[in-house]
Amino acid sequence: MSLSNWNLKYSNGTPLVLLTAYDAQFSQILNEINIDGILVGDSLRHTFYGDSTTVNMTIDHMVYHTSAVCNGAPNSFIISDMPFMSYSISIEDTLQNATKLIQAGASAIKCEVREAHLPTIERLVKEGFQVMAHIGLQPQYIHESGGYSIKGKSSEEQQELLNLSKSLSDIGVFAIVLEKVPMNVSQTITKSIQCPTIGIGAGPHCSGQILVTNDVLGLTPNFNPKFLKKYCNGLEIFKDALQSFKHDVESNTFPDLSNGYSE
Ligand code: KIV
Repeated sequence: MSLSNWNLKYSNGTPLVLLTAYDAQFSQILNEINIDGILVGDSLRHTFYGDSTTVNMTIDHMVYHTSAVCNGAPNSFIISDMPFMSYSISIEDTLQNATKLIQAGASAIKCEVREAHLPTIERLVKEGFQVMAHIGLQPQYIHESGGYSIKGKSSEEQQELLNLSKSLSDIGVFAIVLEKVPMNVSQTITKSIQCPTIGIGAGPHCSGQILVTNDVLGLTPNFNPKFLKKYCNGLEIFKDALQSFKHDVESNTFPDLSNGYSE
């Protein structure tokens, strides 16, 4: 799938919709509801592996999950996360890592961009990679920033975010994720640049929104930030179904004869 649908929605002012997937079953569901993008996010380090940070993600893990997601969603625009340090060591290393994700089936890559990365992002765009930048709260740099708090509260930080966004838009990234920034800041950035902003905890003024699918489905009971809306209590729904299976097996009601094979 290409970005032409994005351009149409962006120029009409219709919000873009993105969600995450880490495997073929979830990406199949997202493929069926026809959203604008599926992110194979390194948040899978939390949701899939149970880690407390994303810093241990490797390019090989991302390749593995990216091919699974692509198998389940052949008609979708799939963006794959470049893991921590996979775009920082050298340009050769960066180009090789980005190539691995595209060869696994992704249409685009996402990087948590800091100012020092700008020449690398420019080179990736020049080489023909479709790059989505991620600024504001950057979970890969959690050890430096010291927590998951809002970014862009001080006027100095706000100016840095605006300058970085403008540079990224000029370089030609196709979108910028704004994570956990105040609403007035995301509104100013969205009005000041030439590409869509995709918000997560950045309020309603962005060009689109992304959430982690597992959070939306209520599968992460201990994660309840203000910006999140849970659309069902997936944990309870799954638990009920599995309890029923347990009950049926223990009470000899499953399997019954209709579930068995005759000769
Ligand atoms: O890794 C991820 O899932 C992300 C989104 C939350 C934007 O970066």
